[in-house]
Amino acid sequence: MQADTTRWPPLIALIGPRGSGKSTIARLVAERLGWSWLDADDVLERQSGRAVRQIFEEDGEAGFRALEATVLRELCRLQAHVLATGGGAVLREDNRALLRRSAWVVWLSANIDTLWQRMQDDARTTDRRPPLLGGGRSEVERVVHARASLYAACANFAASTEGRRPSEIAAEIAAAWAALLKPYSPG
Ligand code: S3P
Repeated sequence: MQADTTRWPPLIALIGPRGSGKSTIARLVAERLGWSWLDADDVLERQSGRAVRQIFEEDGEAGFRALEATVLRELCRLQAHVLATGGGAVLREDNRALLRRSAWVVWLSANIDTLWQRMQDDARTTDRRPPLLGGGRSEVERVVHARASLYAACANFAASTEGRRPSEIAAEIAAAWAALLKPYSPG
């Protein structure tokens, strides 16, 4: 997507599937820029007083998506923040439009096997997240392929996390952001 730096407030949103490293990299990018960072699922859990998994169980996925959209609208008003969004935040057209107009959007990706491995290694998968991925690796593959065009529709920048250290990826993102702003800074 063509960069239009004149319209962006200082807000970076990370999108991508579960296991792509959004929270870790959001924190590292924020540190580099001297900004704050937030994980949209953490904010949603704090506000609702329930774990994502519990919301899925009690209100269904539709209930969760409605809450997720409300939280995203709130977070997209922030400045000097890096946001880690939920893997399914791009499913709703209104969320995609909101992200496009509010933030510089970075799509994090990794191979299916890597995503699957990271999800299994992450303790939060079982106690906090919904069992969306009960179908194992093939389900991960199906979800990632189904969402690829939605991530692409929002993204201004894409970074592979495959075989790379989070600090290296964060440095790449921060440098790309700084390069975008350069033509507009004095001197
Ligand atoms: C979801 C991903 C999760 C969370 C919810 C649904 C998804 O976020 O929003 O469990 O549909 O892929 P992470 O990508 O941070 O795990």
